[in-house]
Amino acid sequence: MQMPSNRWFRGILMFGAALVAGGVLAGCRGQLSESPPIHPNPNMDFQKRYDPQEPSTFFSDGRAMRKPVAGTVARPPHSVKGKTFVKNDPHLYTGMVNGKFANKLPKQIKLTDALLKRGQNRYNIFCTACHGKTGNGKGVVTLYSSGINPRNFHEVRTIALGQIYSAMFKGAGTMKPYNSQLTVEDRWAVAAYVRALQLTRKSFASR
Ligand code: HEC
Repeated sequence: MQMPSNRWFRGILMFGAALVAGGVLAGCRGQLSESPPIHPNPNMDFQKRYDPQEPSTFFSDGRAMRKPVAGTVARPPHSVKGKTFVKNDPHLYTGMVNGKFANKLPKQIKLTDALLKRGQNRYNIFCTACHGKTGNGKGVVTLYSSGINPRNFHEVRTIALGQIYSAMFKGAGTMKPYNSQLTVEDRWAVAAYVRALQLTRKSFASR
């Protein structure tokens, strides 16, 4: 038979537990701390590195920050050879003209054999893992992860050239941009090559 005192005891225990939990939660509020937040899975988030201006014993001049190589000139990362800074040129830089995806190469980029070869080279390095060598969206990662669905380029044949470019420039949906891996010229070269891949299957059903 259930003793009444047992219920009392449980009640007090629950009340105590609630007090402790409340105290713990309240204790976390409003406190400043120098240490990083609790990080159960550190991955590779915390690594040894130098902060700007920090000294280093590795280099003989004692600085971690290195000077530019003598005789070299820094240039903006997204400039095209001999052209002005490309932010002034949305077609070239973003793939868009008047807020719409352009369907032509920008005037600075000429459609040549060399451009397509360069595009093929960069595509095979940076895109095949997901989109596959033929562009059918069945790259090797799809064998290992069912959650990733790279676009099959043969299903989106009417996609504007500027939109292909933009996938590399801004990313598209779950796909991250490839700005840091591909220069402006390389992005257009890859876009042209993707278009070439699409044309190879023009007369087939998408597959
Ligand atoms: C890590 C895998 C991965 C890599 C590598 C990758 N993509 Fe993608 N890409 C995707 C996924 C996933 C989608 C579909 C995104 C969505 O629907 O959310 C996609 C979509 C696209 C689209 C369609 C964009 C749109 O607006 O519909 C284009 C074009 C594209 N990728 C081009 C490229 C090119 C070019 C490269 C190489 C520079 C590349 N991708 C590399 C995963 C990848």
